[in-house]
Amino acid sequence: MGSTEKMFIGGEWVEGASRLTFIVRNPFNNEELCTVSDGGVEDVRQAVDAAHQAFPLWRAVLPRDRAEYLRKIGDLLLAETDRLAKILTLENGKPLEEARGEIKFSASFFHWFAEECRRSYGDVIPSPVSGKELFTIVEPLGVAALICPWNFPIGMPARKVSAALAAGCTCVIKPAEDTPLSTIELVKIIQKAGIPQGVVNVITCSRDNVQNIGTELCTNPKVSIVSFTGSCEVGRTLYSLCGKSLKRVALELGGNAPFIIFSSANLQSAVNGLMGAKFRNAGQTCVTANRILIQEDVYDEVLKMFTEQVKKLKVGNGIDAEFQQGPLINNKQKERVARIVAESVAKGATVVCGGKQEGNGFEPTILTDLTVDMPCWKEEIFGPVASILKFKDEAEAVNIANNTDRGLAAYFYSSDYQQISRVSRSLEAGMIGENDVAISTTEAPFGGYKSSGIGKEGSKYGLDEYSNRKLICKGGL
Ligand code: SIN
Repeated sequence: MGSTEKMFIGGEWVEGASRLTFIVRNPFNNEELCTVSDGGVEDVRQAVDAAHQAFPLWRAVLPRDRAEYLRKIGDLLLAETDRLAKILTLENGKPLEEARGEIKFSASFFHWFAEECRRSYGDVIPSPVSGKELFTIVEPLGVAALICPWNFPIGMPARKVSAALAAGCTCVIKPAEDTPLSTIELVKIIQKAGIPQGVVNVITCSRDNVQNIGTELCTNPKVSIVSFTGSCEVGRTLYSLCGKSLKRVALELGGNAPFIIFSSANLQSAVNGLMGAKFRNAGQTCVTANRILIQEDVYDEVLKMFTEQVKKLKVGNGIDAEFQQGPLINNKQKERVARIVAESVAKGATVVCGGKQEGNGFEPTILTDLTVDMPCWKEEIFGPVASILKFKDEAEAVNIANNTDRGLAAYFYSSDYQQISRVSRSLEAGMIGENDVAISTTEAPFGGYKSSGIGKEGSKYGLDEYSNRKLICKGGL
């Protein structure tokens, strides 16, 4: 990480047309980490042009050779895990151990898609008439605009760019304003792996320019797909912008995940799972447990076990191994979490523990005595606040769990074989954790139902987002 970081366009590190910069700060103590080029619409156009120009060359690279580049990027990421994790923690605040996990997670996508790109098979389709043959082949879409969030500042660009490159697309990456440094490091590694110039470009920008840049990426005729991870609100705006030219979209948006503990569950395992699902990255994940439902006959016992564990969490500097929870990313997030807690308490919620800001973070908090119209239940909190509701029976729990327009992840713990099978099929979400919370892995499809998004990332389906399937109908045979 230098004192000023630039953008990467057409294989060169450049300052951008305005030559302006913006400051990236450590969310734990607000210290300046470095300055970064503040890109604008003109820079986006140049980056898209570079990616568009590089596309015929990159799509012609054999899948076997693309795989070599991807494997090398994965290896380089792993070799630099400690250095990259430190940068990630400095700009995002998450504990160093979580940051190390994120680097490994990022590498896993490059290794996975190095394998998958060799398997993007077409079909031979039995013809309905004689003298004719039907085939399909898989082709890359073109230029992919990858708009990435701050909560996984290397993991999300890695998940997107690995799939796009594997499919034969070229890319323009736009990291979040708060966390461009990890993405810049990823792009330096991509450069080091020898990816041809123009194939991967990165545009950084401050909050002032983000709207114009998003609009340009969604309306530029040379962009074929926009892949976005972030809030439902922004997702809807980008989707409608892309609709004008019918661009392909892949949207990984917000969640409001239920976490149900049935009375038959192994309670210790359920509480351990809940700790991870709720407090990873200080609750700042789309798949975090947002609405916790505990069956009435085990409610008191589970609440006691959970509270004991939550009270042990220490909030502080993610760089220091003593702390299991870092700061929240910025003032907007702090204000949001504080408002949700205050408004819920005003409506009658009880604070079992926590409830206040702590430095630039927020105390690990448990709220009980809830009603489903409280903000802590209806809204995606994106913070370390566990909202807990008691339920009577399975039908009630499933009904409450599905009563949301979001459908990203849902978790439940039960030891009743038949219940497990029923509940998994009844929950309206794209990803179900059955007695488990580690749902996000390169081998499995990541994506939501309802307003939580469109498309799947990772897995054997991840290439589809960046590909077209072409029919070749051979006649006159
Ligand atoms: C998120 O997008 O917030 C979750 C990402 C993941 O766990 O893979």
